[in-house]
Amino acid sequence: MPVFRVETANRNYEAIVERGALRKLQGSIPDSNGATFVVTTREVWALHGGALARALDGRPHHVLYFAGGEPNKRVAHVESMAEQMVELGADRSSIVIAFGGGIVTDLAGFLAAIFMRGVPVIQIPTTLLAQVDAAVGGKTGANLRGGKNLIGAFHQPLVVLIDPDLLATLSEREYRAGLYEIIKCGIIRDAELFRILSAEREAVLSRRPDIEETIIAAAVRIKCEVVTADEREGDLRRILNFGHTVGHAIEAETKYETLLHGEAVAYGMHAAVEISKVTGLTDTEAKQMRDVIASYGPLPQLNGIRAGSLASLMLHDKKTVKGKVHFVLTPRVGETKIVSGIPESVILDAIEAAIR
Ligand code: GLY
Repeated sequence: MPVFRVETANRNYEAIVERGALRKLQGSIPDSNGATFVVTTREVWALHGGALARALDGRPHHVLYFAGGEPNKRVAHVESMAEQMVELGADRSSIVIAFGGGIVTDLAGFLAAIFMRGVPVIQIPTTLLAQVDAAVGGKTGANLRGGKNLIGAFHQPLVVLIDPDLLATLSEREYRAGLYEIIKCGIIRDAELFRILSAEREAVLSRRPDIEETIIAAAVRIKCEVVTADEREGDLRRILNFGHTVGHAIEAETKYETLLHGEAVAYGMHAAVEISKVTGLTDTEAKQMRDVIASYGPLPQLNGIRAGSLASLMLHDKKTVKGKVHFVLTPRVGETKIVSGIPESVILDAIEAAIR
């Protein structure tokens, strides 16, 4: 059973990757008489609510349904869930269980971060993307009209229960979207993970259990190491944004309707590899990286999107400081370099090459 530790100034905790990890839930809840609130969507609850209720082993709990979807990831819904908690008798001894994909884990984490100035949260991600990224590392938040995740807080969970069995109901498209974040982990920090993704594509896509466990565990290990080294994204954690500079701009330009997050990151990784190549940072491995990203496609077409519009959106991304766009680039598989001051023409050409 792979168990990875995250150590931060405020909390140390474990991310447990194991089939059946959900059954560890009741044992993970601290002894207290506080009320338990499960934040989820009706879709996730219909599929897995029975298993979660069994894992609570008779512990009374309230289910707070969230409509799901990026447009609903708004503070108004956090407020509405907080009001429901108060009506249901919540206090500082209450606990939140985030049970869903990345939007649920972010929003429920934010609810827990600010409810009565903070109550504990247990993260139980149900999508591949949330298992390998969103649910680990304590980033929580909601969207503003001006952009994604522009309001939020760091709030580390008590534990992250990562149960690959929950992925059995995940659609092919959602699964592939999560795989792109795993490819990202290979490119930025783990050449062996990248090799597996390259050599075992069929087994990965057919969700062969041993391979599935291996690649999830590898990605979660990387996330835990990086967050432990740099919780607040002052330095090392920035490497997790490989592919996200252009990816976030594509999501915003398509109004979060056309692509899943992981798909936008895939386009963004193509652009980052292209910039790495054109600037001479990398050479021979660029093709290999492009080929592996492309082999997990196809990606939805981006008709009518202009590179210039994406470039100007990047200037407004929250990671852009004083008008300087920083790119996470890669000299070779397993390594990164953060670079700013890339000429606009290089960025525009790379985006154009990536999205066509
Ligand atoms: N998803 C990137 C991070 O957690 O830093």
